[in-house]
Amino acid sequence: MKIVGIVGSNAELSYNRLLLQYIKRNFGSKFELDIIEIDNIPLFNQSQDISNEPLLSDFNKRILQADGVIISTAEHNHTIPAALKSVLEWLSFNLHPFENKPVMVIGASYFTQGSSRAQLHLRQILDAPGVNAIVMPGNEFLLGNAKAAFDEDGQLIEQRTVEFLSGILTKFMKFISVVSVLEDKPQYPSEDLYAKGTIDTTIEGVDMYSDNWVEEAAAKTQAADGSDYVKLNHGVLTVDQLNYFLRSMPLELTYADHNNQFLYYNYTKEEADMLAGRRPEQVGNPLAECHPEKSLNGVEWVIQTLRSGAQDLVQVKVPSPDGMFKVHNYQAMRNEDGEYMGINEYILDLMPWVNFYLQQTGQKLVGDADATTSASVSDTDASTSASVK
Ligand SMILES: Cc1cc2nc3c(=O)[nH]c(=O)nc-3n(C[C@H](O)[C@H](O)[C@H](O)COP(=O)(O)O)c2cc1C
Repeated sequence: MKIVGIVGSNAELSYNRLLLQYIKRNFGSKFELDIIEIDNIPLFNQSQDISNEPLLSDFNKRILQADGVIISTAEHNHTIPAALKSVLEWLSFNLHPFENKPVMVIGASYFTQGSSRAQLHLRQILDAPGVNAIVMPGNEFLLGNAKAAFDEDGQLIEQRTVEFLSGILTKFMKFISVVSVLEDKPQYPSEDLYAKGTIDTTIEGVDMYSDNWVEEAAAKTQAADGSDYVKLNHGVLTVDQLNYFLRSMPLELTYADHNNQFLYYNYTKEEADMLAGRRPEQVGNPLAECHPEKSLNGVEWVIQTLRSGAQDLVQVKVPSPDGMFKVHNYQAMRNEDGEYMGINEYILDLMPWVNFYLQQTGQKLVGDADATTSASVSDTDASTSASVK
C-alpha cells in the first residue's frame, strides 16, 4: 500500500516532519510512505496559476497515485498554518487530487492540545467542495508537548503514544480498503493494441508483421549501424557499443512505443531460456500479436494506467517453483513534457539479491515462500506471501 504523508509545516525544524519520518521508519512493513514537503510552494494566487508547473503537478501526481494520504498539521493561532492552507487551495483550484481520496489527519504542536483545534479545521477544509477528500472520522492523534516527545534519534519516547499511533494506522489501512470499494473505476479511452494508427516515429511502408521487420525498417530509414556514432543525452556511443551495453544488462529489456508497437528487445538468450520468451521475428509486431488473446484486457489495463499517468510503474511479481522470483516491471517512458512515450518493460529475477541479503543478515524466508502465484497482467497486486523476518 502506498501512502503520501504531507508535512503540514514549512519550518526547517518541524515536529510534524519528525512525526511522519517516525511513521515512515517504524511502519514500513505496513505501507510505503512518500513524504511531501510544502516549504517551497508559492503562496496561492488565483491570478498567477502555477497548477501545471512541475512542483505542483508532481505533488498532484504523487497524491493521485497514492492509496491514501496522511496530513500531519502544525497549529498556528488555533488553526492550520497558512502554508498548508495555501497548498490545499492550489490543490482544489485547477487540480483536485484529494477527490475521494482517503485522508487521515494527525498533528503535533508545542502545547498540550497537540494541534486539536487545527485538526478540526483541517477536517472541515478537506470536506469542502473542490477538495472532497474522504476523511477518516474520529481517531484523533494529537501529539502535544512535541518538543519533549522524541528522543535524539527521532523515536517517540512514550510507549503508549507508539501503541496508539500503531492502532490508528492499522485502522487507516482498513479505512482505505473500505473506501476503495466505493470508488468508481476510472474510465480511460480504449487502447489500439493492433497499432493501426501511426505516430511521428512509425516507420511507414514496412509490414509490421514481417519476420524480417528489423532489417526492412533499418533499410527504409537508413538507420545508423555498427560503428556509426549516436549522440545520447549524456554520451556518444557507436551502435555496437550501445548493443554491448544493452546486451550486458542483467535484465530483459523490451521497448514498446506509444503507438503500441514492439520495437526492440535486448536479445540475450533464446526464447525458451528467457524469463519471458521473445523471438527476434516478433520485433515490429503490434502488442496484440505478442500476447495471447486472453491477456489482452490486462495488457490494455497496464497501458491505460501508464498512459493516463495514474501510475508510472506497474509490477507483477511471480515467485516460481524453480526458485526464481520474477518481477515484470512495466515502466512508463515520458518525454521532457511528461507525455507518455511508451513502455520500458524490464524483467528480472530478484532471487539472487534476496539470497545475498539473507546470507548477509543471517535471516531466512518464512511462510509460503515456495508458493507459485499465477499472477497475470490484470492481477497486478498479486505478490508473494513470502516475507523476510
Ligand atoms: C504564529 C504561531 C502561532 C502558533 N499558535 C499555536 C497555537 O495556536 N496552538 C499551539 O498549540 N501551538 C501554536 N504555536 C506553536 C506550534 O505548535 C509550534 O510552532 C509547532 O511546532 C508547529 O509545528 P512544526 O514543528 O511542525 O512546525 C504557534 C506557533 C507560531 C509560530
